[in-house]
Amino acid sequence: MTGRALRATRQPPPLGGGSGKDLLTIGAIPASRIVRLLRLARELKTMRQRGRPHQYLTGATLGLLFEKPSTRTRVSFEAGITQLGGKSLFLSATDIQLCRGESIADTARVLSRYLDGLVLRTYDHATVEEWARQATIPVINGLTDVCHPCQALSDLLTIREKKGALNGVKLAYVGDGNNVANSLIEGAAKMGMAISLGCPSGYEPDQRIVDLARVEAEHTGGSIEIGENPQVAVKEADVVYTDVWVSMGREREQSRRLKALAPYQLNERLLKCARPDAIVMHCLPAHRGQEITAGVLDGPQSVVLDQAENRLHMQKAILVEWLGRGKRKIGGT
Ligand code: CP
Ligand code: NVA
Repeated sequence: MTGRALRATRQPPPLGGGSGKDLLTIGAIPASRIVRLLRLARELKTMRQRGRPHQYLTGATLGLLFEKPSTRTRVSFEAGITQLGGKSLFLSATDIQLCRGESIADTARVLSRYLDGLVLRTYDHATVEEWARQATIPVINGLTDVCHPCQALSDLLTIREKKGALNGVKLAYVGDGNNVANSLIEGAAKMGMAISLGCPSGYEPDQRIVDLARVEAEHTGGSIEIGENPQVAVKEADVVYTDVWVSMGREREQSRRLKALAPYQLNERLLKCARPDAIVMHCLPAHRGQEITAGVLDGPQSVVLDQAENRLHMQKAILVEWLGRGKRKIGGT
């Protein structure tokens, strides 16, 4: 058998992370735990707004190890653990011995003796799975090439706030079927939402995720539509979402991507296909004039700054839920 045939017949491995110790994908989190996270995030947001103390993780140390740049994820996790009474430690991949060939297994087992949790941002999704297998502490996925669960969980909080519900809400995603799209599909299916994607051929979301989410949606009353027409995807949507056309690590494909995705720009004309009260979401960073026009991103329907703020509140809930080991009672205290 040739190498080509071997590659063609090999199925991509299933996504792991179902033990509950780690947060690697939304697909691996039971819906009841997502509902609990949403409630906890709302409580933590209220406590912060009212200046009420909420130091539920006093003494905890959170490590962050990022292979890719980050503004929101890094700063919201670092600020979040600080507000919860803990400390953060940002570990540059080029400063620790990993860059000189020390194995993930040894690094993960050693760091597990010092830290209470670890947020990772990697290229290959298999890397976070390997860390999760080797570490005895919770490993939280801060974005991989396949998914961005903390982003989509925070987005569920924003949609719930703006639309008053998740079940039955129509979320349209236009553009590249990337890591953010994959996690939105998983989150929408878990919460009984209708998600509709408009993506060009060759830029569809991950088929493994779509297949599993379709099974999930059958139980929650949600639905998943994937097509090539952005107007059809956006029709009557309550939420219209887009993300960059060139994700981190895809820079060499830039010219091909800009050409293929040009008809998928979220502009004023496309937004008119949605409900008049639709909100516009973007995980940021944005490229005005590429995937979204400045008029739409900065316009009255855009909620992107509230969306970015909610990263902080949801990720604090994630930290309490995954690092707190149920010891800290939230609410009514
Ligand atoms: N949305 C998001 O994850 O942003 P950063 O890349 O700045 O973390
Ligand atoms: N899809 C983007 C998201 C950035 C937060 C990327 O992976 O670069």
